[in-house]
Amino acid sequence: MDEELRAWVRSARAIAVLSGAGMSAESGVPTFRDALTGLWARFDPQQLATEAAFRRQPQLVWDWYAERRAAIDNVQANAGHLAIADFQRRHPGRLTVITQNVDGLHQRAGSAGVLALHGNIAQDRWLDAPRACCQADAIAPGRPPHCPVCGNLRRPAVVWFGEMLPEAELAAAQAAAEACDLMLVVGTSGEVYPAAGLAAVAREAGARVLIVNPQASALDRVATHCLRATAASALPLLLGDD
Ligand code: OAD
Repeated sequence: MDEELRAWVRSARAIAVLSGAGMSAESGVPTFRDALTGLWARFDPQQLATEAAFRRQPQLVWDWYAERRAAIDNVQANAGHLAIADFQRRHPGRLTVITQNVDGLHQRAGSAGVLALHGNIAQDRWLDAPRACCQADAIAPGRPPHCPVCGNLRRPAVVWFGEMLPEAELAAAQAAAEACDLMLVVGTSGEVYPAAGLAAVAREAGARVLIVNPQASALDRVATHCLRATAASALPLLLGDD
């Protein structure tokens, strides 16, 4: 590991981590855009990750998410997630995690205050605005579960294509990007906005932007440096004490 990069971490007052699917690749969670194993190489996002798709084929979409949810239940945080959480414990208040991942692995690793911009696959919520009959303790089981009175469906609490990001998380992420003096961009292709735009926000505010990704990404042009390494191999060295 380049000593200069470690020095960037040591001297940083405020670090923001912007993570994407590659962060969890070494845990066994597939990415989206890998040419062979990525989910969007095998499945059409327009058929699975939009509100229109869910309304058209609720059972198909529900089952697809249920399968991913079950797979994620069976994996573990990797050395990259753990190195970030460990840094936060050793340096309270110095590192903010902003993630596009819905897998909850940063949280499982022990990271606090994770800003999950695309939601959480372990949770669900009402598809349509809940009426008086839509009660959390009276959800009828099914694929998807639903309100037994009006039929309102439960849907995965993730952000689908064409949907807004959760306002509070996005505002907090924007603030963290503006306030940091080092942003680590880990395991994202940088193709999906507004999340990807946070790297430029940090750079324009004067922060160093260090990319950790074994491949080139759309954000390389805003990077101060690109570290061609995987999350689980690089982050323990980068964020470790010795
Ligand atoms: P992508 O699949 O687009 O990109 C994954 C990135 O991780 C690629 O640049 C890989 O080179 C890199 N990568 C692979 N293995 C890695 C490893 N072990 N260590 C570090 N990097 C590695 O995933 P995202 O950028 O997260 O949106 O995709 C953004 C959004 O598009 C996702 O949040 C999802 C998807 O549609 C929603 O669900 C709303």
